[in-house]
Amino acid sequence: MANEKTLILVKPDGVQRGIAGQVITRLEATGLRIAGMKLLQISDELAAEHYGEHEGKPFYPGLVAFITSGPVVAICLDGPNAISIVRKVMGSTNPAEAAPGTVRGDLAIDIGRNVIHGSANEEDAAREVALYFSDVELVDYARAIDGWIVE
Ligand code: RTP
Ligand code: MG
Repeated sequence: MANEKTLILVKPDGVQRGIAGQVITRLEATGLRIAGMKLLQISDELAAEHYGEHEGKPFYPGLVAFITSGPVVAICLDGPNAISIVRKVMGSTNPAEAAPGTVRGDLAIDIGRNVIHGSANEEDAAREVALYFSDVELVDYARAIDGWIVE
């Protein structure tokens, strides 16, 4: 089983709506381990680095304006298949298509206000974790219940 780290953001809409805790609760409940977590306001420079793949697309200016509009909660989760497990918990990008039981399916209605970001693949995850967290901000620790979560 591949152990992975992945980067999650509770986007500014999630923080403003007071549902960051609900999102974190859902992520924690998977059993993935919180390796890093902090509140920060994303600068224009960081937004451009993070969402560089979307530069030039029609929704890009609005996306950067939105992601920099208020604080986000950045979280690094660690565990087996962390990247795909978090994507599953998030649901489809467009909340109108996101399944019930997912963060976007249950807690959002608009693609431009979809509450959560999660790294899409291994390459993005490595790049994004390093964008938001320094080495000392990522804590490696064991939990007493680990044997009840991973065989
Ligand atoms: P994210 O990067 O935020 O985790 O979302 P994602 O992988 O599911 O979606 P992505 O294709 O990377 O798009 C990034 C964010 O841009 C907004 N978006 N708007 N109006 C549109 O057509 C459109 N397409 C994407 C969404 O907020 C999406 O989360
Ligand atoms: Mg994406």
